Amino acid sequence: MSAGLEKEIERGVRLHDFYYVGRDLCCEKVRVWDIVQAVGTPVYIYSHRTIVEHFRKLKRAFQSLRPLICYSMKANSNLAVLKTLVREGAGLDIVSGGELYRARRAGCEARKIVYAGVGKTGEEIEEAIRAGILLFNIESTAELGEINRIAGRLKKKVKVSLRVNPGVDPGTHRHIATGKPESKFGLDLDTAHAVFIQSPGYPALSICGIHVHIGSQILTGEPFLKAFRKVLIFVTSLEKEGCKIEYLNLGGGLGIIYSDEKPQTAEEFAQEILPLFHHRKFRLIFEPGRFIVGNAGILAARILYLKKTPVKNFAVLDTGMNDLIRPTLYDSHHEVWPLEKDPRREKRVYDFVGPVCESGDFLARDRSTQELRAGEGLAFLSAGAYGFSMASNYNSRPRPAEVLVKGSEFAVIRKRETHGDLLRGEKVPPFLR
Ligand code: LLP
Repeated sequence: MSAGLEKEIERGVRLHDFYYVGRDLCCEKVRVWDIVQAVGTPVYIYSHRTIVEHFRKLKRAFQSLRPLICYSMKANSNLAVLKTLVREGAGLDIVSGGELYRARRAGCEARKIVYAGVGKTGEEIEEAIRAGILLFNIESTAELGEINRIAGRLKKKVKVSLRVNPGVDPGTHRHIATGKPESKFGLDLDTAHAVFIQSPGYPALSICGIHVHIGSQILTGEPFLKAFRKVLIFVTSLEKEGCKIEYLNLGGGLGIIYSDEKPQTAEEFAQEILPLFHHRKFRLIFEPGRFIVGNAGILAARILYLKKTPVKNFAVLDTGMNDLIRPTLYDSHHEVWPLEKDPRREKRVYDFVGPVCESGDFLARDRSTQELRAGEGLAFLSAGAYGFSMASNYNSRPRPAEVLVKGSEFAVIRKRETHGDLLRGEKVPPFLR
């Protein structure tokens, strides 16, 4: 780990802009407890500074190639988070009509938007063409035909890149590996080659790019290098056949620290990757999500009850899998820090569980921390990516509020949902009245 990173991360004490001042956990210059008292719990809290810093780190590391960095907004699509990044010059990587809508509302220029995903509907495709996005990342030949048909009807020439599946195992959780041969994503290289040969058959399309994204939370450069080398060999052979590749989209996937991971830094990643591309003329695109927002957010919650069984100490929380589903879905680790530290207390081991009626409803298991009391506050760290964006209303639980901190200021950037919000759009039909 680089010295700079060590300064930002001190186990149990500091994670980027979340750190203790005396006994109090703070986000930038605000006590988390003050936010919790003003806004209630559960609440997602994001650091503006961490978001901006992570974006800038990547930008700086790759500045010699001036890539377009399209933040992958599925990680956290709150308007204020998007606005923060758009103001920094970021483009956006979208995967639905809803994300296109948010991207436009956040003020992102259409020519900085790339659109991926295996299941774009005709309507979504038409909206994105009309908006004038930079590129569609194509995932199948069927989709290619559909975009060609719609673009033809709209009398537009549409730029597309083919998402290729290089068949590389990224060495991450099976649910977030996308570049293996059995994955639903992208085209195998033979099919992609055939598409380029048949490109005159798609007169409304300019097939001018290659896209590759092999998975998420990748901690070393090796799987990236393997995949990018394969892609470069493929691109070189295409160029020899006269195809012109203008864009190379290298996807996202950079891993972050959740517990004791030692991921490559942006500079280390760049040092490994840059030599592959220096002598090439592509416009490079990156689509980082987690790297930018993952450690920029926490989920703060309160302990409702403590419960002791013959084999466990449970801390029952006012949050659970409906707010943060990652532990349930991927067995992921989120550090648990008390909002107020008390060094005089003894240590205890707890399972942190939610109120949802599922035995998979836990946020952390078998964690040693200070002895806890009902009513106290806790923070689940590294919850800025795929936290709120994957939250649901299961068990009819309103989704939490979201807060953005900037220096000594904080603002609610999404109100806590109400019971009224839960029923929005529902109707009892006349035959039940
Ligand atoms: N580009 C594409 C085409 C993607 O599918 C993804 C993520 C990204 C970029 C951004 O990847 P990142 O830089 O965030 O690793 N819900 C899971 C992660 C799912 C990732 C989906 N695709 C989790 O909570 O770990």
